[in-house]
Amino acid sequence: MVSDALVQIRTHFESVYGRKPSNLAATLFELLPEELRHPRVARLQCSSFLVERGLVRLERRALAAVRRLPGGMVDLGCGTGGLGRRIARRIGSPLVGVDVAISGGAAREGFIVGDMHDLPLSDSTFSLAIANDVLHLVEEPVLALRETHRVLAPQATLIGSLYRYGGSVGRGRTREQWERVFGDAGFRRPRLFDVTREWRAVMTAKHQARWSHRESLVRRFGPEAALHCDVSRQMLGIDMRIGFIAANERWEVIVRK
Ligand SMILES: C[S@@+](CC[C@H](N)C(=O)[O-])C[C@H]1O[C@@H](n2cnc3c(N)ncnc32)[C@H](O)[C@@H]1O
Repeated sequence: MVSDALVQIRTHFESVYGRKPSNLAATLFELLPEELRHPRVARLQCSSFLVERGLVRLERRALAAVRRLPGGMVDLGCGTGGLGRRIARRIGSPLVGVDVAISGGAAREGFIVGDMHDLPLSDSTFSLAIANDVLHLVEEPVLALRETHRVLAPQATLIGSLYRYGGSVGRGRTREQWERVFGDAGFRRPRLFDVTREWRAVMTAKHQARWSHRESLVRRFGPEAALHCDVSRQMLGIDMRIGFIAANERWEVIVRK
């Protein structure tokens, strides 16, 4: 018999994601820390890490940017598009989304398939760009940011977030190197805010909860659950020199053209 608690979790999941969860998805959702289950952020189906406090900061920065310079907004590396749509609604701005792989909501909204290294967009068009958790992924950040600079109007703002890979994971740019990357692309000096502590606390809670339930998860759901548990093992660094969470840093960025 399904417990009342599980029925509630399923209903909550359905209201957030607009679809019925599998038994495994519902159980993993139930184990998430409150910050990641918050409907306002979970509903965005963001493929990146985003907690409510981060969303509030992003919205505040976007509002400040369009108050100074009203106009259109572009969401670079938009993924499913939920975050861009939410920010655009909040600031009352028209929106274009671009991603190398358009899926889900973004496909329905007719966002554009495109690469940040060669944006299929006109010069000096947007007053705001968001790039959430994408700049550290592009092959050539100076080229991608030069393209971003080209499509932004004079005085326009770029806001977003990125990871710094470190420790055993390898490549990673320092603050000074990122400042140089933005400078070489034509931007002013960026402001980089270190939000690593907040990110580590939430991610550690998420993966510790999964890891501590691993035996029952694998017993109930088999190999798919085992894969999720192995990700948690790597995130926490169990039986490793250093885990992904401890090895990496997360920064938010705001920069003007
Ligand atoms: C971690 S996801 C973030 C998605 C979205 N910004 C969000 O916050 O939910 C990174 C996204 O960047 C896209 N991406 C990676 N490299 C790209 C590139 N060179 N040009 C455009 N999109 C890119 C990926 O396809 C993916 O959707």
